[in-house]
Amino acid sequence: MIAVKAFDAIVIGGGGAGLRAALALGDAGKKIAVISKVFPTRSHTVAAQGGINAALGNVQHDDDWRYHFYDTVLGSDFLGDQDAIEYMCKEAPRTIIELEHMGLPFSRDENGKIYQRAFGGQSRFFGKEPVKRTCAAADRTGHALLHTLYQQNVAKRTQFFNEWFVLDLVKNQHGAVVGVSAIDIVSGELCYFMARQTVLATGGAGRIYHSSTNAYICTGDGLAMAWRAGICLQDMEMWQFHPTGLYGSGILISEGTRGEGGRLLNSQGDYYMTKYSSMADLACRDIVARSSMEEIIHGRGCGPKKDHVLLDIRELSEETIAQKLPGITEISKIYAGIDPKQDPIPVVPTVHYLMGGIPTTPYGEVINHKNGKDEIVPGLFAAGECACVSVHGANRLGANSLLDIVVFGRAVGQRIQEVDNASQVQEASRTDIEAAFSAYYEMEERTEGDAFVSFREPMQRLMQDDFGVYREEEKMQKGLGSLQELRQNFHKSAYYKDKSSVFNTSRIEAFEMRNLLDVAVSTAQSALTRKESRGAHSRVDYPKRDDQNWLCHSIVHYDGGFEKRMVNNSPKEVEPVALKERH
Ligand code: FUM
Repeated sequence: MIAVKAFDAIVIGGGGAGLRAALALGDAGKKIAVISKVFPTRSHTVAAQGGINAALGNVQHDDDWRYHFYDTVLGSDFLGDQDAIEYMCKEAPRTIIELEHMGLPFSRDENGKIYQRAFGGQSRFFGKEPVKRTCAAADRTGHALLHTLYQQNVAKRTQFFNEWFVLDLVKNQHGAVVGVSAIDIVSGELCYFMARQTVLATGGAGRIYHSSTNAYICTGDGLAMAWRAGICLQDMEMWQFHPTGLYGSGILISEGTRGEGGRLLNSQGDYYMTKYSSMADLACRDIVARSSMEEIIHGRGCGPKKDHVLLDIRELSEETIAQKLPGITEISKIYAGIDPKQDPIPVVPTVHYLMGGIPTTPYGEVINHKNGKDEIVPGLFAAGECACVSVHGANRLGANSLLDIVVFGRAVGQRIQEVDNASQVQEASRTDIEAAFSAYYEMEERTEGDAFVSFREPMQRLMQDDFGVYREEEKMQKGLGSLQELRQNFHKSAYYKDKSSVFNTSRIEAFEMRNLLDVAVSTAQSALTRKESRGAHSRVDYPKRDDQNWLCHSIVHYDGGFEKRMVNNSPKEVEPVALKERH
């Protein structure tokens, strides 16, 4: 039996983007629901540490959103859409003040202003001087932001469906998205959430890799359900490796540690980043991650296996460590068994963030790019890490992600206010609804085959080995073949033994696995096709950026098709940033 619940709009995902979108929709008096597979404050936004960028100019120097715009375009290695970047950077200062007024407990400087720290790739005067642009709540900024947004939603009486898992989009015969199929994790009840507008805010998919800073819940659910529904994915090869994942567990050690003065160290005692970049430890993340890999590859890594490097914060004052970096201190003690005031922290480049995703306009409308044309998908929006606006291009600047989720979460909500029309009834037929539950029925009926969990390790190993920091044709070709075979076998034979209804996490993990495999295949297809090196996509066989052929977004379709899509480099109020090499 499938229950039906009807809303004006539904938001899938209870992280920062989803909660900000919900607030904007609630303000417009829409009947909305937030559907989240975890309790909202357990969403992965909670793990964001270092901060959120805005050109407030609170510390030492004035700043200007135009400098932020310039840094973001350069950081993206020119793959970011400059109209969207302009919008985000210009909106940033008022967004921070809005969050402050909502109650976000930012750290303060001695004058009581919001504290700002240095982060990678930040400059004033278009690359001429360093600047401190990252607003922080110690090194737990995501935690503070998520709880603030959740409390605001509680105050506004947003309706939450917590611990509900969304299976697929429901599309009608006119191609409009008219809600989702979902399962209540607590009871096993099936439900069609019917809505005129559906917002995907499901976050990232870092769990396709073996070593990731991402929570176990980051399984690419929204990306995969959009792709299966015939919507293209964009720039899926662009995975960011954070230079400082804790060696062993992969837990994030914030870039804020380097922003406060920490430095990377090799086994020979060299602070090696000065040799790779004029910005040293505060170069863009892709550059720092590659530099650390070079140290490891050339035998200057640390530990018995020489497979990691060290992050040294021993020279920072007790006060800085206690007040600005309490979170990474605790993490280092618990998970690496070291006190970072006494010993350097073992770290290694670790998968952290997907710059690609579901293509959208700057207002979150989902774009399907097909046969060379952009079409807006009626009834579907996306925001946050699952979306590709694209403000991050080929490499995201640290602390632009929290900004992205609040700026574009709000933009989506506001856009829906403008376009939603209650008299436009979008119907779904019984067949449309059943189609969105078909994978569920198939898996429920299967009583033998291969345990779904047996697909995880091979997928993660393939991604880690063949689609890591450095990539090359032959390995990727083989890797893609193996991933496609793995996905095919999953669809033929994966099963879960336990068919019970109540809190059956095995069932949910099986559907997460299905999503992960789709995201892994889309990444592999894109990575193999882009024959150049740009930002985080670093090919040993094509080591140079090739603007003539590849200054474009890569589009992959579920049927294996590939297209190029133009980058928007026409901001409205500033000069576009001219192409140049990054250092
Ligand atoms: O290093 C960090 O604190 C992470 C920030 C980010 O990815 O934006």
